[in-house]
Amino acid sequence: MSNNASIQIPNVALNDGGAIPQVGTGTLFAKGNELADLLAQAIRAGYRLLDTAAQYANEGAVGEALRRSGVPRSEIFLTTKVAGMDQGHHLTRRGLLESLRRLNTDYVDLLLIHWPNPSRGLAVETWAEMLELQAEGLVAHVGVSNFLRHQIEELHAATGVWPVVDQIQLSPALARTELRAFLSDKGIIAQGWRPLGGKEQPMAQIITGKIARRLGVDTSQVVLRWAVQQGAVVIPSSRNPARWRSNADLFGFELTAQDLVDLATLDLGEDAAWDSTKHEEW
Ligand SMILES: NC(=O)c1ccc[n+]([C@@H]2O[C@H](COP(=O)([O-])OP(=O)(O)OC[C@H]3O[C@@H](n4cnc5c(N)ncnc54)[C@H](OP(=O)(O)O)[C@@H]3O)[C@@H](O)[C@H]2O)c1
Repeated sequence: MSNNASIQIPNVALNDGGAIPQVGTGTLFAKGNELADLLAQAIRAGYRLLDTAAQYANEGAVGEALRRSGVPRSEIFLTTKVAGMDQGHHLTRRGLLESLRRLNTDYVDLLLIHWPNPSRGLAVETWAEMLELQAEGLVAHVGVSNFLRHQIEELHAATGVWPVVDQIQLSPALARTELRAFLSDKGIIAQGWRPLGGKEQPMAQIITGKIARRLGVDTSQVVLRWAVQQGAVVIPSSRNPARWRSNADLFGFELTAQDLVDLATLDLGEDAAWDSTKHEEW
């Protein structure tokens, strides 16, 4: 967190030699001027990792938040994503240049392929172009989102480069155990989207409440700590400034091995996740 804030967010190492803050903020909690204002406040409060996407149609407001925050660009870890319609040779480059213009910056820290969209078969071409953009300094790190094991292996087989992160839906209710074991084996960080669990409501479960009461923390902190303690990066989002601090305050307590066993009972299994062999986004 920032100088006069008490919470420190540690970095975790990336497989390319870089590092990423272990907690960041999503940007889907507001729009337009309200987003620019709230996000600037969140940055000033200490958040450094920001997660946007061309598809969110909010990059302009995110760029404005960066400007309003007054925090130097070099202190921010900015992620955006290649939209489905921008996959493929030349299009990926054009998409990134448009994102950079909207974000009012000359590089992003992390560029992800938003969804694999297998029906188009353009993920490898897109990945190869992202590596060129990285070599040119327009992108510091490259990764993917919503990719399954075989889809990541295909990128590696074609280029010899593993992504630094796979941003996946992740919470105790969608534990993605097998996929995370593969990611961990390859040194790829699992980055959890919807880490508070959405409609699956892991915060509302009896076991979560019990653990939270014992530790004297919020149920939301138990759910986020579950991911962080296993090495994941999380990007919770809230339009409520009162929640920003607790969503980042995950490093002063620990879940026991038994807590992890108990929380594992909440896992609904891989079938409850979006199926990235079929679900596509543009
Ligand atoms: N790669 C992808 O395909 C993908 C897909 C979806 C999302 N994402 C990214 O992931 C980010 C986070 O996901 P998300 O926004 O869907 O889910 P989330 O962050 O898990 O949950 C947000 C919801 O939780 C509430 N909340 C936040 N903090 C809370 C707390 N401490 N206690 C109780 N409720 C709390 C928020 O309400 P209040 O605002 O009222 O606090 C909001 O309704 C997004 O902003 C986006 O950047 C990526």
